[in-house]
Amino acid sequence: MKKLAFITGGTKGIGKAVAFCLGKAGYDLILTYSSDEKAARQTQEDLQAQGGIAVDLLRADITDKESVDVIYQYLTDKSLTLDALVFNAGLTCRDSFEDMVLEDWEKVFFANVHFPVFLLQRIVSRIRQQGSVLFTGSLMGIQPHSVSLVYGVTKSAVHSLVKNLVKFMSPYHIRVNGVAPGFVDTEWQKTKPVEIRKSIESKVSLGRFCEPEELAEVYKMLIENKYFNGEVVVVDGGYSFK
Ligand SMILES: NC(=O)c1ccc[n+]([C@@H]2O[C@H](COP(=O)([O-])OP(=O)(O)OC[C@H]3O[C@@H](n4cnc5c(N)ncnc54)[C@H](OP(=O)(O)O)[C@@H]3O)[C@@H](O)[C@H]2O)c1
Repeated sequence: MKKLAFITGGTKGIGKAVAFCLGKAGYDLILTYSSDEKAARQTQEDLQAQGGIAVDLLRADITDKESVDVIYQYLTDKSLTLDALVFNAGLTCRDSFEDMVLEDWEKVFFANVHFPVFLLQRIVSRIRQQGSVLFTGSLMGIQPHSVSLVYGVTKSAVHSLVKNLVKFMSPYHIRVNGVAPGFVDTEWQKTKPVEIRKSIESKVSLGRFCEPEELAEVYKMLIENKYFNGEVVVVDGGYSFK
């Protein structure tokens, strides 16, 4: 039987690269997105063009608690059981410390922390024994973020979730791991001014941003290797080692 992976934010950037990597490894896919249906359909088509990969799309905004029910209902209606659940979609808020408002702080916390916890609680019975849950953390959950306080703090919480959830997923025989990427060439980074990008590159010993495809290999390894549990693997090209 084919394996099935569910990836939040699977239609672009890191999630899309993970989708291609897992698709190539024989997984069928369910990819969520929030608003860009055109890009989602294109990703679906490109994946299906690889041949033999079933790809479903689901619009499910991680800032909306109704999405937990939407995803639960979708999996239940189709009687689907997941081999891998990848919590990848994330949110940031770049307002200054002085301008930050509680509503935005809560929104980012909800999307990055509360949403995966309560989605996992709801659908844990739809994850196969020996299956695996994977989180996208961030180097900014380890190093202080220069701009977004709430992003750094929520990504630290994501890393902590990985460690804590191991205990709670153990009775279900489900492993939990995370990836903490440094700087990855995706749309997320496209709005960065050139000088800031150059400054970041100067701190990465490899002198460049990560390609989503090279990061995706790490996701696959953590999903497939049966002895990784409770790890947050940092993939930052040697940040600050220059
Ligand atoms: N890029 C980096 O340098 C970097 C570094 C460390 C960690 N990360 C983390 O990696 C993850 C993915 O980032 P990325 O760089 O791949 O971003 P991206 O290229 O902008 O892709 C974002 C994906 O997430 C979906 N998404 C965005 N907002 C959403 C929402 N509210 N609800 C549901 N889905 C949503 C997007 O769908 P739509 O297009 O429909 O909105 C898209 O599929 C995030 O958790 C981010 O924090 C990124």
